[in-house]
Amino acid sequence: MTHIHLKSKLSTSSNLLIITDKFSNSTDFSFPKEVSDYIVNELKKEDKKSVSLNHLGRYISVLVVSSKTELNSLKEKVRKHAASVTDALNALKEKEVFIYNQTKLTALSLAAAEGLALANYQFNHHITNAKKQVNTLKTITIVGASVKPNDVDQLSIVIEATYKARDLVNEPVNILNATDLADAFKNMGKHAGFSVEVLNKAKIKQLKMGGLLAVNAGSVDEPTFSIMEYKPKNPKNKNPYVLVGKGVVYDTGGLSLKPTPNSMDLMKCDMAGGAAVGCAMYAIAKAKLNVHVIGLVPATDNRPGFNAFAPGDVITMMDGTTVEMLNSDAEGRMILADALHYAKRYKPELTIDLATLTGAAAAAIGSFGIVGMGNAKQRQKDRLYTSGFNVHERIAEFPFWEEYDELIKSDIADQKNLGGPYGGSITAGKFLVKYTDYPYYHLDIAGPAFLTGKDSYRGKGGTGYGVRLLFDFFKNL
Ligand code: BES
Ligand code: ZN
Ligand code: ZN
Repeated sequence: MTHIHLKSKLSTSSNLLIITDKFSNSTDFSFPKEVSDYIVNELKKEDKKSVSLNHLGRYISVLVVSSKTELNSLKEKVRKHAASVTDALNALKEKEVFIYNQTKLTALSLAAAEGLALANYQFNHHITNAKKQVNTLKTITIVGASVKPNDVDQLSIVIEATYKARDLVNEPVNILNATDLADAFKNMGKHAGFSVEVLNKAKIKQLKMGGLLAVNAGSVDEPTFSIMEYKPKNPKNKNPYVLVGKGVVYDTGGLSLKPTPNSMDLMKCDMAGGAAVGCAMYAIAKAKLNVHVIGLVPATDNRPGFNAFAPGDVITMMDGTTVEMLNSDAEGRMILADALHYAKRYKPELTIDLATLTGAAAAAIGSFGIVGMGNAKQRQKDRLYTSGFNVHERIAEFPFWEEYDELIKSDIADQKNLGGPYGGSITAGKFLVKYTDYPYYHLDIAGPAFLTGKDSYRGKGGTGYGVRLLFDFFKNL
């Protein structure tokens, strides 16, 4: 972990990230004249918005922002610049950095710390000789009185939770199967203070979770169904919020087998929604937010083993309705359907699911945001979109028109798990909404959950998408 501190004064020789709307030298910096002159001169150059230098082993980076720009895009600019500072500091084997904010926008100090810390994430514990390449940056200090200690605490928590989600996503299935995922949730519950009950295969059978059992049929590993609950004494909400996460610990496609390159080889990421739900629970409980939240994660791998369900099978789901399974690679909706049905017992205020559900979501908007849809109340949706902008995990709402219902009608069962060639994310959402009787919103994170190349503070591999979004949503409730 990277530690974030708050101090009222700068220490004179430390590495420095300065955010400013108009750079002015300060005695606080203790810059020799040639350093301040250099910065001032560089920033005079046309279109020059930042300058970084290494002065006798002290790394200094100045980012100029225009306070007229909309706050959320400013924050994102700052996060990204901060990520480049993290890379530079690690290359120089530096241990600490101070953030000095000359603007009146306190949020930019926090955004800088967030970008620095998130960019410092590494997944290297399977490398036997990782020592050489371990990041040296350990401490981030925000200078200034305007940042509240509670904001720093919450930021540290959500960064820790994002790291955890990235770890879970990056862990391959031979190390993290459905039982291991449930165990990880149990551990997190113990540390942060929320309850975790894990249903095993016998219990899942008893509950007749037909969708989850169908997907698990071709696997040698047992499925799990994790039920997490965080309930403070006097929560703001009367009815709980329910979070549902897709926990497909590996998706081979089943008998409808995926090709390997750029497809199956990425599919350890298919529990990213489940990871986001568990780690959001962790952050919410650790920060003691005053909301009653329940997290549900159905988990299994999807494999083409002996009893694997065959395209064409008719499956009876937990709610008693039937599905014609025409493609075993559309497995996510099968396990989520049972979880959404299970959620009815809580009479949720709102249920949000997060799932790496469709390649179509990634095809439509790439990795730059989340595809969202559902029948939640408009003010609930608006709050989600606002949080999306706040943390730059933006939601692009897709239509949820009734015409799409036609595309998943089956001749021999209540519906089929496969839509037509177009609108694949929407038909998946339409499939899921059939198992709900409460306000519902579906977040398809297939695009941004796992990146094949480094992207600033989001890194490469698991991004932890959804954790910061959900935390912001509940924080601002
Ligand atoms: N896990 C995949 C979706 C996915 C694709 C996630 C790319 C992350 C990156 C999902 O289970 C799947 O295979 N969906 C199919 C559905 C289709 C068969 C209707 C897809 O998108 O092709
Ligand atoms: Zn699939
Ligand atoms: Zn999948």
